[in-house]
Amino acid sequence: MDKRLKVLVLSGGCSAEHEVSLNSAKSVVEALDKEKYEVIAVIISPEGEWSLAHKSSSLAPVAGQVVTPSLNRMPRGLLLLANESKRGFEPFIQGIDLVFPVLHGPYGEDGTIQGFCEIADLPYVGAGVLASAVGMDKGYMKIILREAGLPVVDFLTFKLTEWRASSLQIAEEIEKSLGYPVFVKPAALGSSIGISKANARQELVDAVAEAGLYQEKILVEKAIDCRELECGVLGDEEPEASVLAEIIPGHEFYDYETKYSDELVNIHIPASLPATITGEVQRLSIKAFKAIGASGMARVDFFLENGTNKIYLNEINTIPGFTATSVYPKLWEASGIPYSRLLDRLIELAIERHKKKAHYRTQRT
Ligand SMILES: Nc1ncnc2c1ncn2[C@@H]1O[C@H](COP(=O)(O)OP(=O)(O)O)[C@@H](O)[C@H]1O
Ligand SMILES: [Mg+2]
Repeated sequence: MDKRLKVLVLSGGCSAEHEVSLNSAKSVVEALDKEKYEVIAVIISPEGEWSLAHKSSSLAPVAGQVVTPSLNRMPRGLLLLANESKRGFEPFIQGIDLVFPVLHGPYGEDGTIQGFCEIADLPYVGAGVLASAVGMDKGYMKIILREAGLPVVDFLTFKLTEWRASSLQIAEEIEKSLGYPVFVKPAALGSSIGISKANARQELVDAVAEAGLYQEKILVEKAIDCRELECGVLGDEEPEASVLAEIIPGHEFYDYETKYSDELVNIHIPASLPATITGEVQRLSIKAFKAIGASGMARVDFFLENGTNKIYLNEINTIPGFTATSVYPKLWEASGIPYSRLLDRLIELAIERHKKKAHYRTQRT
């Protein structure tokens, strides 16, 4: 009998970060130790259709292998059903032991897939429902981080409907309380999609229109003249921080193109910084991880202001980029944990967390 753990790697998804997720998942599928794990790779199409994926050189849906997820808590598990056989749906893959969501952005990194795993009572890698949701919405994330005493840049949020009704007042409020330049972002996305920098009123209007293509909720924050630092966190109740990375984008800021083209960005690992700054960033990273209640992994990103050396926490990502050359795995490699050991550790953490939860009563006795 196959004693390997049956791991379902979920990728793609209904988010603007679909492609990024496929790249991350391809590396994860390749690096998972096949002696320990039976890997089942599923791609969720941009429209939401689940398909089994080839696990070879490129992660792509297998023609005709559309599957439908079905959840059961009793007997436990997520079943993948083959579609539309003559007898209707029938079980196709059963006995999944663990889910590894390698999904970035909404419908994957935001607690939705995590809730799905909770319903199925399956262990899954990374943050739970609440921490995922908080980590995804930059507005709520910053409120919680600020409440925990962490240094965040001044910001405000509004809905597009409010903007349409009173753009003049909102623009004046932004100019009064933040001042140009500002960054304008869809509140809950990633990979810099929909983000732009505005230096004056017309650019602000254009930037809101751009961010508003993706989402209803917009976040505007003060632009900081800074160096950008990133730190990996790994663990659960006693998480550890990795060495730091410094990101030096070739463009004015770390936009989509610079994130996914090696020629446009320089990444220094470990970052060349005074020990006091490195230590402080690591301390703040762990504090942020705990503040949002994260589990397993997170990458915490910072601004180090030029001139003042003031540290600001930009964001916490609960499913960071995961290709073998992405920053999060590179940070751990430089901290002594190679890529496939990192995956083992994340799976162990997921199982431990699931077991811990099972200790508690779900019914009054
Ligand atoms: N307040 C800011 N000051 C300076 N640069 C910023 C600011 N906000 C965002 N940026 C730039 O935009 C990039 C993407 O913004 P971020 O909030 O990290 O969005 P994402 O979740 O898409 O990565 C940052 O890495 C940085 O280069
Ligand atoms: Mg970012």
